[in-house]
This record gives sequence, C-alpha cells and structure tokens, in this order.
Amino acid sequence: KRPPASIVFIFGGSGDLNYRKLTPALYNLSLDGYLPEQFAVVGIGRSKYSDSSYRDRLLEGIKAFSRQKDDLDTNWDVFSKSVAYLNMDGEDADAYKKIADWVNDKEKEWKTQANVIFYLAVAPQLVPDIATNLGKLPLCGDTSRVRIVVEKPFGHDLESARSLNNLLGGLFAEKQIYRIDHYLGKETVQNILALRFANALFEPLWNRNYIDHIQITAAETVGLEGRGGYYETSGALRDMVQNHLLQILCLIAMEAPVSFDADEIRNKKVDVLSAIRHFTHEAVRDNAVRGQYDAGVVKGKKVVAYRDEEGVKHESATETFAAVKFFVDNWRWSGVPFYVRTGKFLQQKKTQITIEFKSAPHFAFPQESADTWRPNRLIISIQPDMDIRLRFQAKRPGQSMMLNPVEMVFNYMDAFDGQQPEAYETLLLDVMQGDATLFMRADQVDQAWQVVTPILDVWQKRQPVDFPNYQPGSWGPEDAEALIAQDGHHWVNVKV
Ligand code: BG6
Repeated sequence: KRPPASIVFIFGGSGDLNYRKLTPALYNLSLDGYLPEQFAVVGIGRSKYSDSSYRDRLLEGIKAFSRQKDDLDTNWDVFSKSVAYLNMDGEDADAYKKIADWVNDKEKEWKTQANVIFYLAVAPQLVPDIATNLGKLPLCGDTSRVRIVVEKPFGHDLESARSLNNLLGGLFAEKQIYRIDHYLGKETVQNILALRFANALFEPLWNRNYIDHIQITAAETVGLEGRGGYYETSGALRDMVQNHLLQILCLIAMEAPVSFDADEIRNKKVDVLSAIRHFTHEAVRDNAVRGQYDAGVVKGKKVVAYRDEEGVKHESATETFAAVKFFVDNWRWSGVPFYVRTGKFLQQKKTQITIEFKSAPHFAFPQESADTWRPNRLIISIQPDMDIRLRFQAKRPGQSMMLNPVEMVFNYMDAFDGQQPEAYETLLLDVMQGDATLFMRADQVDQAWQVVTPILDVWQKRQPVDFPNYQPGSWGPEDAEALIAQDGHHWVNVKV
C-alpha cells in the first residue's frame, strides 16, 4: 500500500548522506511504485542552489549510488519533478516560515493535507536548534501527520542522549520521533525475526540449555572515509556497538513478540537491553578490549596509521576496534556469553552472527572420529554475503564411522530473484507510513547508553598504553583473540 500524500524535508540537503543514501533511496522507491502520487522532497541547506542546479547535483549521486540504473535519464526526469531546494539556515528561527508556507502552497495545489516529514541529516550539534525551531511551527502540533527523523549519533554519552531525549520529548510526541538505526532496515537483519519466530524449529533450542555462546562481528575493510573529525570524538564503541550491534543482539536474544506492533517489538528489545549486565569498573578490564590501527596495507592499498589521519590527534586514544563479552542476565541466557566485535581496516568486510551450540551430550563414535567432530553452528551472514548456514556432522563415506562437518545453506540471492531494497528505502517508506517498528524508542537509546557507559568511563580514565596495537588487514589486536580464547573459543572468521 502506498503512503498518503507526503512532503519530506531534508535538513542537510546538500550533504553527503542525502547524496549517497536518501535521494537514491527515494528514487528507487519511486521506480518500484511505492511513493504516493502526491509526493515532494525538499532539500534544505545553506549552500546556494536553485531547484535545477540542486537536481543536477543529486543526479550525479543517483548515477553513482542508485541500485537501479536502467533508463536513468528518463526516470530521473520524471522523479526530479518532485525535488525542490530551500535555501535557508537551520539556525535562523525566522526562516522557518518558509517551510510552513511551502507546505501550505503544496497542500493547496494538491487539494489535500499531506504527511510532513523532517529528516535531520545534519551534524549532531545542529539537531537541538533545528528541532527547537521546528517545534515552534504550529504544524508540528499535528501528531498524526508530522514526523521528525533523527540520525545517529543520538547523543555522545548517557547524559547527552538523555538531554536530547528530553528536548525532543518536550517538542514532539514520542510517536512523531523516528530515531534511525540503518542496520534495522537491512533485509538480513529483519530476517532474524522471520528465522526465529516464523519457524518452530529453532526456538526450542534458542536458550542456555543448547547454546554455548554467540558471536556478533561487524568487520569493515574501510577506514574513516573522510570523517576523521567525527570519528575522533566517537570511536568504535559509540559508532557501532552502542547502536547497530546492540540492536542485533536484541533481535537474537529477545523473547517472542505477541504481534508486530511497533511497541510490542520494541518492548521486547528493551527487556533484553535492561538485562545486559552493567560492568563494574573492574569487570571492564576482563570483558572489553580496544584497538587502534597502525600504518599498513589493506587489500593491496597503503593505509596511514589512525593517529596520522586528518582530524585525528597525534596522541589519540580513540579506539577503531572494540570487542566486548556481554552477558544477558535473564532466565533464557544466564551464563551464555555474547562476544561482540567491530573494527575498521580489518581483513574482510563481514557482518555475521554465529550461534554456537553445545556439544552432543554423549560421544558414542570411535575415538578416531573425534578429531574431525565439530559442534553445531548456525551462521547468519548479514553482509556482504547474505546467507544462513547450519553446520552439522555427517558420516564420511567409507567403511568406518568417521565424521565430517557439512553445511545446509540458504542463500538470499539464489532463493529470491531480483534485487533487495536498501535499508534506507525500507526506513523512509516506514516513516511515510507511520510505522515505527524499526526505529529506536527513547528508552531503547537510554538503555543502550547505560550498557556502554561503564566501558567508556574506564577507557577514558585509563589511557591505552599499547596504541596503535593492530595491523590493518588483520582481525584486530591480539587481546581480542585472548578475550574469547580464555573461554576456550575462537572468533569465527571463515565459513564452515
Ligand atoms: C555507520 C558508522 O553507522 O555504519 C560507520 O558511522 C560505519 O562508521 C557504517 O562504516 C557501516 O554501515 P554499513 O551499512 O556499511 O555496514
């Protein structure tokens, strides 16, 4: 079903996120027939563009980043009629009348009321001012059709996230606020719920009685991509763990929802977050590892050390790698470690979840076959591979009972024809539809910050003595191996 008439205002209209992700996502939604007939997207920014020069600029982005490129010029001609540009300074309170006028004029032309969406694709320090100015528009009191989308980072720590939540909560109703975590829009991430709760097969095993441990890896082969200034104040724990990886952990660990109602799903996720053990300062040392990359080579390309990147301090203590062993202290997960790691400039791009099951309770096979015996393992690959693999034991052909691990594989591309929508397509469409299931509620953000805060505190107080401590193109610092090896496990980097 297409959403009702909609106007999307993008603050940061001349910025990178809009150029690479948002406009290409809207363009693809339009090609796939998901946009309403009465649709407009208005870029807002301080750069001086006319409607036409703005469209030209966005067309370059479409050419580079759209997943659909057939008949591009013709299709763009049609789509770009809905694209406009408003030159204004988001910090200038008087300029907001332009927005109200724009909406009025459009609604008159369309002869209908429209959903109005304000997408804040701007630096975090600009969010409070823009939100405050928007909040003063009488239009924003209409909670049924006006929404505000806030990009990450949502706060810098617990305190700043709370004050941002308070500020937004004073200006908008919670149901108007869409805090985006783009990982939740990925097809393979959404599929975690389908795998767990549309099948009867896995759920009986999905607990401490059968699962030995869980690993969540988000390894990147890219570095800062020109964002040194931002990253230096963030680091891997804030940039990836507080949001994306804890959200994946929630999907893996949550109880079965009663329905797909937005609040039902989010309640179940908050239950997980509130059950994650908060580390004492002592425990941080045993359960969290940080790393920073040195100079080296990744995929044949030379890389300078993190400390020599633009926008980074020469003595920087910012981590570009983080690994944490979390515990979810509830009935289902008591005693099951969740090892989570992420890093820049690692050996392979790989986001995957490994569920490692406990051993069979009794080994009845000949002793020689024990060497090739391996525990059952379910690997959910989020990206770039999109598959789910279940490892189990089979009898190796021959005259003796020897065992060998084999796999059952489900591959998205083989199973489903056609292209997958990108995360931002799904999320933008959901905002237009008013479906907040895949967005972060205030309490989710708060709980996630509570989980990482003790680690951030300790890391800030105790300066790392060994930075830089990993080679680009490796799997991170040795301490990360030790973190999991002390429990008798190893990180799963390869298939099977
Ligand atoms: C962003 C982080 O949220 O996610 C980046 O700020 C990171 O540092 C990116 O590279 C990864 O997203 P994806 O979709 O490419 O895995």
